[in-house]
Amino acid sequence: MSETDSTPAHVGVLGGGRMGAGIAHAFLLAGSSVTVIERDDTAAAAASDRVLDSVDASIDRGTALEEATSYRARFVTGTDVSSFAACDLVIEAVPEDIALKIDALTRVEKQLTPGAALASNTSSISIDELAAVLEDPERFLGMHFFNPVPASTLVEIVRGATTGPALIDDARGWVRALGKTPIVVADAPGFASSRLGVAIGLEAIRMLEEGVASAEDIDAAMTLGYKHPVGPLRLTDIVGLDVRLGIAEYLAAHLGARFEPPALLRRLVAEGHLGRKSGRGFYEWDA
Ligand SMILES: NC(=O)c1ccc[n+]([C@@H]2O[C@H](COP(=O)([O-])OP(=O)(O)OC[C@H]3O[C@@H](n4cnc5c(N)ncnc54)[C@H](O)[C@@H]3O)[C@@H](O)[C@H]2O)c1
Repeated sequence: MSETDSTPAHVGVLGGGRMGAGIAHAFLLAGSSVTVIERDDTAAAAASDRVLDSVDASIDRGTALEEATSYRARFVTGTDVSSFAACDLVIEAVPEDIALKIDALTRVEKQLTPGAALASNTSSISIDELAAVLEDPERFLGMHFFNPVPASTLVEIVRGATTGPALIDDARGWVRALGKTPIVVADAPGFASSRLGVAIGLEAIRMLEEGVASAEDIDAAMTLGYKHPVGPLRLTDIVGLDVRLGIAEYLAAHLGARFEPPALLRRLVAEGHLGRKSGRGFYEWDA
């Protein structure tokens, strides 16, 4: 982080679920005021609990240095997107559904002041496709945070064809000010992280299918041989086989047959073996 890096004074987050709450937490700890807007009062209350619980946990761990009251004074939740008029940056983190995101982004953009930036935390939807519905696409970019946000140090900044160059520089500084590392990626399917991660995961499944080695030994090849923190098959179990199948199908449609999902992946998903969340994938998982 350089001395000039800082986060925007006021950040808005649309959707305070798993990712939105993590993003709100990150900007609060970095000194911004944060407004989280949810779809209804119940969801707004749940988002508030998620954010404040994780702020309290950071205070307990000693990674948040201010008093709890100081963070609370800079944090509000609500249900009315007109509150985003006060924000310098709004990050959309509603579920991964293009129609939902288009509706959300067009509603949010109408509230923004001319200089405010707008970002999507989408993990797979084309930034250019979303930008096409905006009145001012220069102010729009992808900011792909990773899960769980507090423990993840990478943010993929996705540069759309119409994203303003100065906005990319600003976003790099915001990410550094969060204590994270930015990488800048063009708007290509799977960006950098999903494309590489899924490529290794699919090849590992094909190797298992072909009897090259056991799941444990394939994973050990990468954890011990290449120092990956988790092997590709165990990671597929953690992410969810159905989630990875969906991404592979999307990448195969856009980038070609090299991302074609292996038959073993399709079979396990069809049988309901989705990985950790269902109790079985490439490994058995205890409840
Ligand atoms: N979960 C992950 O591992 C992960 C990682 C990186 C990126 N992402 C992306 O982040 C985005 C959000 O994912 P998530 O896992 O946090 O989902 P989530 O379901 O946990 O949270 C989504 C939130 O959006 C709210 N919401 C729905 N419609 C809304 C609306 N119209 N207005 C305001 N709020 C609304 C929901 O109430 C919910 O709280 C998706 O685009 C996803 O692809 C997820």
